Amino acid sequence: MSLIVENISKRFGDNLVFKDVSFQVDRGEILCIKGKSGEGKTTLLRCLNDLEKIDSGRITINNVDNRQENRDRTGIGLVFQNYNLFPHKTVMENIVLAPLYLKQGGEDEIYSRAREFIYDLGLQGKEDFYPYQLSGGQKQRVAIARACVLNPSILCFDEPTSALDIETTGQISKIIKDLAKRGIGIIVVSHDNQFIDDIAHRTIILSNGHMSEEVNNSFE
Ligand SMILES: Nc1ncnc2c1ncn2[C@@H]1O[C@H](COP(=O)(O)OP(=O)(O)O)[C@@H](O)[C@H]1O
Ligand SMILES: [Mg+2]
Repeated sequence: MSLIVENISKRFGDNLVFKDVSFQVDRGEILCIKGKSGEGKTTLLRCLNDLEKIDSGRITINNVDNRQENRDRTGIGLVFQNYNLFPHKTVMENIVLAPLYLKQGGEDEIYSRAREFIYDLGLQGKEDFYPYQLSGGQKQRVAIARACVLNPSILCFDEPTSALDIETTGQISKIIKDLAKRGIGIIVVSHDNQFIDDIAHRTIILSNGHMSEEVNNSFE
């Protein structure tokens, strides 16, 4: 199991966002999380990615849990809802920045890995563009390349279709399915039911701070 979440709880002051949430994600699996606005979906993804601290419970990624200091934090990645690209950096710079900083291999190796993802995600020719020169779908693909270049076992997407038209949503479905086929465990937070029906192997619902499993999905 790539990701094991056990009884995690998170509050902001008096606001208990979620309590005792548990679930698991395996390699190659696409898990979708549904929930109304304000139910805590983004907070959950931020907790999984160590951008917020949990109050209790345990998050284990590749057999390493969140209580271990100095752990490798690249086992999980997040594609933010608004992509969070660095506006003053080019496409290539956005993608290579983190692996260069983390010294994940030599410079040549990192650039060649970046070029592979640029090619796979159909961004050839855009290497020197700045985010403002890209469409929403292209920005999202840069955000995906930036996350993938760190070789995560788990990749999270926060409302990936909220700013996209139907055609671009079809492209993102295919990209997510391809990433899962490569063995990455995928977590997608969305309220786009059609999109979820298209990609989900399993769906869970976050409601009133609790999580419940939705049945009738097929994971082949
Ligand atoms: N940094 C924060 N500080 C305080 N409250 C927050 C913070 N982030 C989110 N919240 C609160 O947590 C709840 C869940 O928010 P969020 O995770 O963004 O929900 P969703 O993504 O499901 O719409 C909301 O009540 C929100 O106001
Ligand atoms: Mg949200």
